Amino acid sequence: MDSILVTGGTPLNGQIAIAGAKNAALTLMPATLLSEEPLTLTNAPRLSDIKTMTALLQSLGVEVTALQDGKVQVLSSHAMTSTTADYEIVRKMRASNLVLGPLLARHHKATVSLPGGCAIGARPMDIHVTALEAMGAEIELKDGYLHAVAKGGLKGAKVPLRFASVGATENVLMAATLAKGTTLIENAAREPEIVDLAKCLRAMGAQISGEGTSTIEIQGVDRLGAATHPVVTDRIELGTYMLAPVFAGGEVECLGGRLDLVGSFVEKLDAAGVDVTETKDGLKVKRRTDRAKAVDVVTEVFPGFPTDLQAQMMAMLCTAEGTSVLEEKIFENRFMHAPELIRMGADIEVQGGVATVHGVKRLKGAPVMATDLRASVSLILAGLAAEGETMVSRVYHLDRGYEHVEEKLGAVGARIERISA
Ligand code: EPZ
Repeated sequence: MDSILVTGGTPLNGQIAIAGAKNAALTLMPATLLSEEPLTLTNAPRLSDIKTMTALLQSLGVEVTALQDGKVQVLSSHAMTSTTADYEIVRKMRASNLVLGPLLARHHKATVSLPGGCAIGARPMDIHVTALEAMGAEIELKDGYLHAVAKGGLKGAKVPLRFASVGATENVLMAATLAKGTTLIENAAREPEIVDLAKCLRAMGAQISGEGTSTIEIQGVDRLGAATHPVVTDRIELGTYMLAPVFAGGEVECLGGRLDLVGSFVEKLDAAGVDVTETKDGLKVKRRTDRAKAVDVVTEVFPGFPTDLQAQMMAMLCTAEGTSVLEEKIFENRFMHAPELIRMGADIEVQGGVATVHGVKRLKGAPVMATDLRASVSLILAGLAAEGETMVSRVYHLDRGYEHVEEKLGAVGARIERISA
């Protein structure tokens, strides 16, 4: 298992190119199941999660061809061989459950392993199941698998979601494109990745309106065709790298960054004393003084503060001036980075879903361990600000969601290297 060694204290200066969004690509790839025509995705990120989704789709008989070192993915499901998403793959990546809706819509059948829990929570699928049952699917849980059938195909329906689940919205949105009649998703998730999926489905011939709002209307069509679609910029990678100069000092321009993707996050950065400037190529970020100010954060569904940037923000607030209160309202256990930051000298108290961070002047480098994707990158960032060396182990978590993090940070002056075990 690889580790990453970071030596703190060097200000960062230069440009970081932001890749296509992992969480968009992971729902765009299964969309190929809706049509026998090819789907070409450009600006695709090069990540291990994409490799996992590729393996899953190939296990169903989908042809997946990676071009340009993985920046272009060409998918075709004209020769399907299975409608079963196996536990061995699904347990590694929850997003595997996004084959459920498309398989049901086009093949009227799907057998998908429940993902099982992960470090950040139990992550059930009740919202997905209730919604698809409202569209006529019969779904039974047996031996850890969801066995779903839609005799005669899915039917359009009014589908109120009890919570604006991103994955459930994506599954229903994809399923509804081929359902008979009109589907209305109420309390739909509004994340940019949903908007990107709707754009791609529309390019394939789907009839969709309202994406990005809480109500999405889909008119089912008989079939979908071919499309080429550029994956939207990764707003979580963007927010992560926007924080790098706040930790280390200096100024960094995030190429491809767009303010509309990170609105609520930028509001918090502004309150913390960080300047964010739009340039013709992206977003330029610089700390106003040599120490950020404490701010309170509550994670919400989009357009609120994203849960996927909570760990990175907490790490930054560890050395801010004052006390910050962070409330995690999306997942039940997403503070595992806190004990690791405390090993670096942070002063954090966790009570259930609330973490109180008392800013200290400086963190001290230490050996720390990654526990999930976003926690791992928060420890890398903390290492940029810490005195001395920080060794982050189990960086396979990191590689799931961040392309070549040591190259991107190294290119702007960070002292960072990957130590292969
Ligand atoms: C997506 O996960 C993202 N993953 C997550 O990013 C992100 O944190 C999350 O949305 C919230 O924004 C992908 O897009 C691949 P949810 P998803 O369904 O769809 C509960 C990362 O780091 N829930 O919106 O699984 C659930 O337990 C990952 O890139 C139910 O109770 O998120 C959680 O507490 C981590 N029943 C909350 O809703 C359900 O049927 C949010 O889940 C579904 C969800």
